[in-house]
Amino acid sequence: MSTRYRPTWLEIRLDHIHDNFERIQAHIGKKTVIPVVKANAYGHGAVEVTGSLREKGVRFFAVSLLEEALELRRAYDDIDILILGVVRPFDFEVIQRNDLIMTVNDMDVAKDVLAFEKGLRCHVKVDTGMNRLGIKDAEDIVAFFEEAKSRKRLSLEGIYTHFATADGDETFLRGQLAHFRKVLSALPYKPDVVHVSNSAATWKYERDIMETDAVRVGVSLYGFDPNRLVKALKPTFFLKTSIVQRKALKKGEKVGYGITYEAKSDETIGIIPIGYADGLIRKNQDGLVEINGRTYPLVGRVCMDYAFVRIDDDVAKNAIVTVLGGAVSVDDVAQRLETIPYEVFCTITSRVPRVYESGE
Ligand SMILES: Cc1ncc(COP(=O)(O)O)c(C=O)c1O
Repeated sequence: MSTRYRPTWLEIRLDHIHDNFERIQAHIGKKTVIPVVKANAYGHGAVEVTGSLREKGVRFFAVSLLEEALELRRAYDDIDILILGVVRPFDFEVIQRNDLIMTVNDMDVAKDVLAFEKGLRCHVKVDTGMNRLGIKDAEDIVAFFEEAKSRKRLSLEGIYTHFATADGDETFLRGQLAHFRKVLSALPYKPDVVHVSNSAATWKYERDIMETDAVRVGVSLYGFDPNRLVKALKPTFFLKTSIVQRKALKKGEKVGYGITYEAKSDETIGIIPIGYADGLIRKNQDGLVEINGRTYPLVGRVCMDYAFVRIDDDVAKNAIVTVLGGAVSVDDVAQRLETIPYEVFCTITSRVPRVYESGE
């Protein structure tokens, strides 16, 4: 890691990611867990997270973009990398050269894949009702599989779908699963890797889905079950900073841009070197942070590079402040901001250095 000067960093607990992985693996038995490491492993660092799981023997990962796949391929030459997102015919050459696995997300791509002269490794995505990516029509998918049989260089290794309501409407999910099963049963042959579940579906439904070989798990690796059924997952993401200045305020003194906060009595304010340019968005005004095991409020407007915490008099300069993780969890912050943990993870910008801890 490059030299750090500012005392603001994101501590990533790789050991907790491993523990979460093992918990997921134990839940699904012999099936494969495919870690989803798109979007820089939900802000955790794709190369580092992949590398540490690879050391434990994991060999199959999923990303969204070709760029993300290439970043992983440059780092590791012995893993399978599935691109979940859209790729275009002019990407095929680089996909093939880097031994990546692409998704056939619509029939245009299916035709282009059939026409491509060199070998390609593919999974087919079935759109079973989310109306995002994937092929809807069972007949189209069957026709593609039939055509692919005559192309020896083309390897259709997997088929999958994605649920829209794994953390909600069960009836809708059951409808998607039924559609997927219909497609599966119509195929002329079953590919090696059949997968449907994200984190929420893995915990809630996967044990009852007999047709699948793998699950694609993102957010639960990073400590969260969207259905909040599994409480034992460990936090992996700790945003930390420290108090770089203390200010003694007299009752009535004001704080920050727009002077939105006024001291109600004589109080102490700690200045922390983290702001919205780091992903501590302005809506965090009035949120909480943790210092020495106690929570304190953010007061005044969050600036681009700094924020203010109302502290007790005995909180020292240089005290470590945990902005996310610990007493104030990513989920707490997500709920307060009326969003989801995924978005909180992805909001922390690359300006914040990631520091990897293995708990030893
Ligand atoms: C196609 C696909 N599969 C799996 C995942 C992983 O989802 P989760 O992070 O909820 O486990 C995602 C993430 O959005 C996805 O888009």
